[in-house]
Amino acid sequence: MAEIATIGTDRARGGYSRHVFDTAERELREWFTTSAERVGLDVDVDRNGNIWAWWGTPADGAVVTGSHLDSVPGGGAFDGPLGVASALAAVERLRNDGFRPRRPIAVVVFAEEEGGRFGVPCLGSRLLTGAIPPDRALTLTDADGTTFADAATKAGFDPGRFGKDDVALARIGTFVELHVEQGRGLIDAGSPIAVGTGIDPHGRWRLSFTGRGDHAGTAAVADRNDPMIPAARTVLAARAAAGHGPRDTRATVGKLVPVPGGTNVIPARVDLWLDSRATATEATSEAVAAITEAARTAANDEGCEVEVTEESWSGPVSFDARLRDRLRTTLGEPPLLPTGAGHDAGVLAAHVPTGMLYVRNPTGISHSPAEHAEDDDCEAGVEALAQVLRELA
Ligand code: GLV
Ligand code: MN
Ligand code: MN
Repeated sequence: MAEIATIGTDRARGGYSRHVFDTAERELREWFTTSAERVGLDVDVDRNGNIWAWWGTPADGAVVTGSHLDSVPGGGAFDGPLGVASALAAVERLRNDGFRPRRPIAVVVFAEEEGGRFGVPCLGSRLLTGAIPPDRALTLTDADGTTFADAATKAGFDPGRFGKDDVALARIGTFVELHVEQGRGLIDAGSPIAVGTGIDPHGRWRLSFTGRGDHAGTAAVADRNDPMIPAARTVLAARAAAGHGPRDTRATVGKLVPVPGGTNVIPARVDLWLDSRATATEATSEAVAAITEAARTAANDEGCEVEVTEESWSGPVSFDARLRDRLRTTLGEPPLLPTGAGHDAGVLAAHVPTGMLYVRNPTGISHSPAEHAEDDDCEAGVEALAQVLRELA
């Protein structure tokens, strides 16, 4: 983690901004390759931009661990990289101990887990499993209008080969992702680690409000069709649709872009992104329905239009019960934790036995530079992951 501490720091936002195929993320890919080779692993990049480091000849049914190296804009140091660094450390420990796996072990780095650049989270694992058609992924654009296809080409990939990868999928016999805990779930639990139970259903919607651009000083309020007004009312509708407890319905507007975006300019358009999650699909759908209804009413009141697009949906995930129990028994019955955060493990869970380990986060904060894990707890995470790999492989 210290080796990558200066890669992708974001001076404007604080924390890290590491987005798929940008300079920082490519530097992290090189760091991973070098580090994995130093541990004695063979590195291979799949058709969808995910990186694999193998202990043993790649074969069907391997024990796979790993996570991602990209971040949200201005994110913390641990979300993603902790799972990758811990995986390398756990493998190195097993090799130094003279452990001889009966099954191959692989450490994987999935591409674009956060969707921080192209909007759809877990793009690498979704492409690999066929959860997103390559045509849709390749035409996604970043904030500058660059398509995923162009960014991938520039990074040396062949977009024509992106898509469902049955060979890579068959090689995953079991997947265990270690991740920093992203809420307050372990603060008072008296344990540095937990075993995951599942992931709440969640999705992302884009609401584009269009009105009429004009001059902030000369356009009378009565004459305005200002899309910022319904956008603002939508933000409040999201808060109103959410509950107050950590497991209650969540609805968040974390990104809002006025176009053209000038202090003295009434925007012609405002794009707003809604993230909504709940413990059940129905509650998520109800919240999104209420918020989009409020958005339509607010747009109408202001003489604006609104277009609503679902950008991604991730259904509820329950991790494999047998694997979960095995992880718990192996690790001396640590606490079980559900999560409201999405992971590549959630995508893979539809295909192979999948589990997660969480490392305590004393701040309880994530997707922020305040995200943290103490060294001793990270060490406990590595030890737990090493035990799990020993048990499974
Ligand atoms: C990923 O971290 C997500 O839950 O948005
Ligand atoms: Mn994240
Ligand atoms: Mn993550």
